[in-house]
Amino acid sequence: VTQDLIAVDTPAPEHINLASLDYWASATLESDFALLRADHPVTWHEHPDSGRGFWSVVRHQDIAEIANDPATFSNRDGARINHDPEMNVVRPATGTLLELDPPQHTRYRKLFSKKFTPRAVARFEDAIRARVVSLIDGVADKGRCEFVHDVAAPLPLHVICDIVGVPDDETRAWIFEMADRTVAENDPEIGGGAEGGSEAALALKEYGERLAAERATDLKDDLLSALLAMQGQEGGDALADRQIKDLFALLVAAGNETTRNSVSHGLRAFTLFPEAREQLLTRPELRWTMADEVVRWATPVLHMRRTITRDVVFRGVEMKAGQKLALWNFSGNRDDRAIDDPERFDITRDPNRLQSFGGGGPHFCLGTNLARLEIVVLFEELFKALPDIRVVGEPTSVRSNLIRGIREMQVEFSPRG
Ligand code: HEM
Repeated sequence: VTQDLIAVDTPAPEHINLASLDYWASATLESDFALLRADHPVTWHEHPDSGRGFWSVVRHQDIAEIANDPATFSNRDGARINHDPEMNVVRPATGTLLELDPPQHTRYRKLFSKKFTPRAVARFEDAIRARVVSLIDGVADKGRCEFVHDVAAPLPLHVICDIVGVPDDETRAWIFEMADRTVAENDPEIGGGAEGGSEAALALKEYGERLAAERATDLKDDLLSALLAMQGQEGGDALADRQIKDLFALLVAAGNETTRNSVSHGLRAFTLFPEAREQLLTRPELRWTMADEVVRWATPVLHMRRTITRDVVFRGVEMKAGQKLALWNFSGNRDDRAIDDPERFDITRDPNRLQSFGGGGPHFCLGTNLARLEIVVLFEELFKALPDIRVVGEPTSVRSNLIRGIREMQVEFSPRG
């Protein structure tokens, strides 16, 4: 037993410690998770970086089963593995959908989901396209750029701000910084640890609360106003009120890094698999299966955490009430028991049993349709304007076992004449 790995019951191979952040910097993720899936489907990992130890679940079917059993595997202590209740950490999602269990969750999820159906998000398409075109215009003459900063990161942030109703001014740069700090809190160059992340989350929540208060007296044509109006008609309660105030922080945290990293990893995949770009250019009807494959390939959210509510035996392993458990979506997405030839980036894959949006069950990503639309519009416009855009060199990664984040990624293309 090394200092990095205190094994209990079902030890993982010594070089794999999913709780240690240094492990993630050097990880050979594809082969390590393949080894876990084959021989160690349920393992225990422990390291000071991630607080108390936790169970790891890596097979597609096991992830789906647990995600669909919220009574045994609860979200009430959060969806990130690194936090323990005694740390008193505020996360953007604290008190929101992502940290509620049924039946409360069911009620508020219903309130929001009407606003995220394919038809409801289709009305944002023109605004998304205008934003995408203006970001591309900003770099098109240069022949090269840093893709994350110039294109991938601003897009989802602006889209969420447009939808919720945040004014288009310097506030957005501030929101951007807060969102980065809380989601990537464990990267010393971005966040300030759990404490810094907590402060940033609180700042986002306070901002959301102010915005909701402003809208309450001055309804506009945005999501916040629509929810406030709906709540007014339905006779809301204190928790519903909390959901609306916290909605902004939740959406920023859930929709920002995720979509950003999908398009960055996606462009990298289109660079590594040129035939996929050819397919998309010649068969534009593949754009929706392309979006799902990009998100599968990227797996922007590496894990989702659950907390065990009662002593339970899962796949022959005894788990105790109160213990943490990580569902490794990344591994589910590479499991050949569920996905054919998972190492291949295949934009024609249909059906695509991706687990990037979760393993199913009540918390399945609310923003799926919006994320898909953003990805479709981005690649349509990008390859139209800069058909030979490609990644050069190796991207740098965010230090995290929560997000599979690309911090910087250089790209080159023939400048637009
Ligand atoms: C490709 C981009 C995205 C990925 C990979 C992603 C991934 C996820 C994952 C893994 C979950 C948790 C699922 C579970 O535990 O079962 C989730 C939940 C959620 N996502 Fe996304 N997401 C993305 C984009 C978005 C966007 C654009 C929004 C909204 C603007 C959004 C809003 C949410 C919300 C509100 C939840 C919580 C749902 C609940 O607990 O009921 N996501 N997402």
